[in-house]
Amino acid sequence: MDAVTQVLGERGVVLGVASLVLKEGMTAERAEDVVRAGVAAGAVAIDTARAYATVDDEAVGERLAKVARDARPGLPIITKAGHFRIATSAWDADGSAERLRHDAEVSRDVFGAPPSLLLLHRADRVRDIEESVRTLAELRDEGVVETIGLSNATVEMLDQVRGVTHINAVENRLGLGVDAFTEYRYCFENGIAFLAYAPFGGPQAAPLATRVPRVAALSMARGVSVHRLTLAAMIDALPGCWPVVGPTRVESAADAAAAGRDEVDDELRSAFAEDMRSRDVPLPGPSGVGAE
Ligand SMILES: NC(=O)c1ccc[n+]([C@@H]2O[C@H](COP(=O)([O-])OP(=O)(O)OC[C@H]3O[C@@H](n4cnc5c(N)ncnc54)[C@H](OP(=O)(O)O)[C@@H]3O)[C@@H](O)[C@H]2O)c1
Repeated sequence: MDAVTQVLGERGVVLGVASLVLKEGMTAERAEDVVRAGVAAGAVAIDTARAYATVDDEAVGERLAKVARDARPGLPIITKAGHFRIATSAWDADGSAERLRHDAEVSRDVFGAPPSLLLLHRADRVRDIEESVRTLAELRDEGVVETIGLSNATVEMLDQVRGVTHINAVENRLGLGVDAFTEYRYCFENGIAFLAYAPFGGPQAAPLATRVPRVAALSMARGVSVHRLTLAAMIDALPGCWPVVGPTRVESAADAAAAGRDEVDDELRSAFAEDMRSRDVPLPGPSGVGAE
């Protein structure tokens, strides 16, 4: 079993905190309530970043991860380095050894323990990705972090860093019915865990039901939310993949997180596969992966 699978443990839903920090009008109290609701309902890890910060406080998002771990001791924490807020609506990226080491050490201090998984946040924006990955590997070897990965990485980038070290995980956008499964498939075939962020398309997306109409019809018939059924079907169809969702309400956090424990039957399996096929982003194979 790969290290990150050991670190993340169970399959299920990862709770992301970006909007709990960045959304207009969000309060610290509500953000903490949402996090606790998601954890209580069964979220299997929490996803945060140095970049989920206010202009005055660079650790807001990471302290929310600490709230989650206090609610469930041992809960895996995923965080990201090399991307940071510099003004009200401006962020910068820096994948240098100094920056990554600094970020990793600060994250460890905020959590009081090594991050379970440290991702290079903007693999697409660093000057020398091989240098960045070498630094991540050193941090892993030294025990500053438990496992390492890249976020926002293309298959070409993953090929490029293959010779440097084994990376444990990739976190990329996988908007259902919009994005293809290309990087997921690459990761599955190469023993890399895949964290699929923004499966519903993020806070501004059109209603999910428009992209998964067959699953939406089942959700009406079964009296279960389309978000929950879709997440359950996604986890079932994509071994080695953990969806990372960003609910901003207690109700949606509890609903989404619970999907990780749901049973999936053939009717739901087929509806989800057909919805993906009709959007021109077919699932990687009849049983999830491996076959065309
Ligand atoms: N690595 C990266 O570069 C990167 C980039 C972006 C995001 N991320 C991570 O991915 C996480 C998720 O991203 P995201 O928030 O953009 O995408 P998302 O989860 O696809 O979309 C969030 C939207 O989904 C809705 N939602 C979630 N669960 C629901 C449910 N059960 N019922 C109804 N609505 C539901 C939320 O509604 P409500 O607001 O009403 O709850 C919110 O509007 C972030 O928090 C962050 O941790 C990582």
